[in-house]
Amino acid sequence: MMKKKILAFLLAAVMVLALVACGGNNSGKDNDSQGGGEGGKTIGVCIYKFDDAFMTTYRNALQEILEGKGYSVTVVDGNNDQNKQNEQINTFITQGVDALIINPVMTSAADQIIATVKGADIPTVLINREPTADQMAAYDKLVYVGCDAAQSGTFQGELILETANKGDINGDGKVSYIMIQGDPENIDAQLRTEYSVKALTDAGMEVEELDLQRGDWDREKGQTICANDLAQFGDQIEVVFCNNDDMAIGALQAIQAAGRTVNEDIYLVGVDALDAALNEVKAGNMTGTVLNDAKGQAQGAVAEMEKLLSGTTYASGSQSVYVDYVKVTPDNVADFMG
Ligand code: BGC
Repeated sequence: MMKKKILAFLLAAVMVLALVACGGNNSGKDNDSQGGGEGGKTIGVCIYKFDDAFMTTYRNALQEILEGKGYSVTVVDGNNDQNKQNEQINTFITQGVDALIINPVMTSAADQIIATVKGADIPTVLINREPTADQMAAYDKLVYVGCDAAQSGTFQGELILETANKGDINGDGKVSYIMIQGDPENIDAQLRTEYSVKALTDAGMEVEELDLQRGDWDREKGQTICANDLAQFGDQIEVVFCNNDDMAIGALQAIQAAGRTVNEDIYLVGVDALDAALNEVKAGNMTGTVLNDAKGQAQGAVAEMEKLLSGTTYASGSQSVYVDYVKVTPDNVADFMG
């Protein structure tokens, strides 16, 4: 009898102990997933400025993907101010985020950003503004996800070469263009400007640059620059190259206000494939654009971040991961809509 009681007591005690141990494990697991498992990991995302049409699509995609995977995400607006972004990066580091995704405000700040994240040993994905391979080589838990900006420029030039008169609307033997540039500090702006024209000259076309001005990726600036150029150069302008779609939409307003008709007496190309631009390509009000795949880049950035989180390091010279640009014309525009 006594033996049975002792046995029952011992059994009960073992069960209680087992329960406590289980509970302990569970809470341990929760803590782990805060700092260890995929869900619950904290990610800081720094965007150069929220008031940018393309980066708005991009950051929304990033947030959706990260939250969908169970990460705890904070996205901050750098307001186009590198000092502000530096503070934001430091705050994320102090908070102990598991990884950072950074769209630098200034390409020229790359060295400093890389030194900071390396000092804090935080795995970091840079997006949208590509540093040089040498700069990235300083830290092996760092990777860049973006596109090859030269390719988008080449595609813009090809869009013009694919028109009936290869951009030489007035048949005077040269393509006369204006170039509305993004922020010239940005490699995307530099390479699109260079390679769009290079595609024409490589194809044996003569070119004449009537004007080149910085529109800083901004719709209103695009409109003002184009309106002024149309007033100054009138029918001489055959092609309006814009480094992005938002400026092209602005330029289109100026073109229409000046009574000109795209694809008849003037050509207009952008980059990004924003919804607004896709509508204009479809309607024949833009000659074409180039898909800057925000969703694809966001997916790529998260995939690389997860590799970093699981311990992958990157050898110097292989720290850039590219997503392809795609030419968008009235023929294939439907594929990118909706
Ligand atoms: C996009 C622009 C955007 C810029 C921001 C470029 O890749 O084409 O629309 O303003 O990135 O850095």
